[in-house]
Amino acid sequence: MAIVTLTNVSRHYPAPTPGGDSVVAVDNVTLDIEKGDVFGIIGYSGAGKSTLVRLINALEPASSGTITVDGVDITALKERELRGVRRGIGMIFQQFNLFAGKSVHANIAYPLKLAGWSKADIAQRVTELLAFVGLSDKAKAYPEQLSGGQKQRVGIARALATRPAILLADEATSALDPQTTHEVLELLKRVNEEQGVTIVVITHEMDVIQTLATKVAVMEHGRVIEQGPVFEVFSAPKHPASQRFVGTVIKGVPSPAETAALAARHTGRLVTFSFRDGDAAQARVFLDLAAAGLDFELVYGGINDIRGRAFGNLTLAIRGDDATIDRTLAVIGERTSVTDLDEQGAR
Ligand SMILES: Nc1ncnc2c1ncn2[C@@H]1O[C@H](COP(=O)(O)OP(=O)(O)OP(=O)(O)O)[C@@H](O)[C@H]1O
Ligand SMILES: [Mg+2]
Repeated sequence: MAIVTLTNVSRHYPAPTPGGDSVVAVDNVTLDIEKGDVFGIIGYSGAGKSTLVRLINALEPASSGTITVDGVDITALKERELRGVRRGIGMIFQQFNLFAGKSVHANIAYPLKLAGWSKADIAQRVTELLAFVGLSDKAKAYPEQLSGGQKQRVGIARALATRPAILLADEATSALDPQTTHEVLELLKRVNEEQGVTIVVITHEMDVIQTLATKVAVMEHGRVIEQGPVFEVFSAPKHPASQRFVGTVIKGVPSPAETAALAARHTGRLVTFSFRDGDAAQARVFLDLAAAGLDFELVYGGINDIRGRAFGNLTLAIRGDDATIDRTLAVIGERTSVTDLDEQGAR
């Protein structure tokens, strides 16, 4: 069931200079976020990711199109009614946005106070949240006394305080080192799996998508150019921009420079085979090559874990006559993804 639906949504800003063109930050976007998804949004700077999130959050109105959150068309609501919608959506930020003058306890209690909770209920909920994010001993500390990862955990606890159904995370780990990023991602995974919160993550870090997200949308110039389950998009990206993003994290595909080095070191035709798990045809690649009398050598490769599923790439230097290689690759290509690096100019 979709918890957020965008239908032909656009967002325009006035021209930055008088008489110039208006800025189309989000351009005719249609997408569904299902309940329980960890929905990743990737794209270069200026692609419109943050704007899209502000539209979902009802912090800004869409210029056109409709946005439904939890079954309610928010584009039709008045400001007073939007406050209720916003209460059902938590948000965390790159710069944490904690109140420097308030203790950890008071930071987390803040949204509960606004929502009119009783003192006793607030105390109980904050204690529960501190335990969940692993900061029970930091209740009295102030933000400046915390590490970046601890600050973001406070941010997560505060965002979850009123039990929102949706959590929006805009570059929430971009200010953190890799180890701390890993801890925060593990926490977000628990938020999703144990509390059933739907999460929207905006990031330029592909490994965040690879470890956390279930679905991904790629944005360029305000448009969504590709979307789908992370495994599908990462193992077979269709759009050139998606291929560039995915190429930065997917292991086992030689770069042009590595391909040239392989070509210099090995004789034979360089061919990359891609294997997706559950693919029954994997063994056939080797059997077909051997049956055709072709000799081969494994020269490059890597296996990726994409949210628990395996996606591997293996490059072979295949030796034999060209016609036999062509014929065999054509047969293998019917079941398995084959990239002939020589055709791409390896030699
Ligand atoms: N309040 C605003 N007024 C005018 N233009 C804006 C405003 N906010 C964003 N834009 C423009 O809209 C476009 C999309 O911006 P947005 O912040 O959504 O991109 P982004 O994908 O989040 O980029 P980044 O990765 O750098 O955070 C940009 O061209 C930006 O300059
Ligand atoms: Mg942004």
